[in-house]
Amino acid sequence: MIQVAPSLLAADFARLGEAVETVNRSEASLIHIDVMDGLFVPNITIGFPVISAINTIARKPLDVHLMITDPGRYVNQVRDAGAHIMNVHWEACTHLDRVVHTIRAAGMKAGVTLNPATPVEFLRDIIAELDLVLLMSVNPGFGGQKFIPNTVDKVRRLRKLIAESGSKAVIEIDGGVDLTTAPALIEAGADVLVAGSYVFGAPDPIKAVSDLIALS
Ligand code: DX5
Ligand code: ZN
Repeated sequence: MIQVAPSLLAADFARLGEAVETVNRSEASLIHIDVMDGLFVPNITIGFPVISAINTIARKPLDVHLMITDPGRYVNQVRDAGAHIMNVHWEACTHLDRVVHTIRAAGMKAGVTLNPATPVEFLRDIIAELDLVLLMSVNPGFGGQKFIPNTVDKVRRLRKLIAESGSKAVIEIDGGVDLTTAPALIEAGADVLVAGSYVFGAPDPIKAVSDLIALS
């Protein structure tokens, strides 16, 4: 069964608490939180105080996606803010092996995120250490962008790499996920789908989550 992680980036930030309550009441498995630094990506969103506030009312584990340069600097702050999964970009870490081990030693699940142009094969020598791989199906920085179809093939190749290495990593996809793009991702072997505008742009976000799950 596919899992869904609604992305709060598409929520009304003036009513963030209501959006978290909506996710709490839905069949979602995780709450996806997008942190941007205006350097790694051309946008700035939310930071640790807001994640901590979300954590006080969230009843789903927090999946924190750091679109920031050198994320290894913030492992303890991300953990203290309440993250369950810390996702760092492959492209943002000079010493990825060290960052992954630091995340796990801090008690969080370690996720590595790949931009659309980064091959999944670049993870071959770290995949056994990962709890999650997040494949970007849009260029990170903004919600509401068009799905990049090549992602489906990346899911298939990543599924193969995981099987070959005996890794327990789950495959999560982020960007442009909706009822039209999800079926091919599920068929290719995705485990978790992040969905922002599809969920919070829907008249009934709780039903939107259930409709995605019902595809699998
Ligand atoms: C984009 C973010 C995504 C974003 C997805 O940089 O990482 O999590 O919220 O939004 P949608 O689902 O609207 O493409
Ligand atoms: Zn994200």
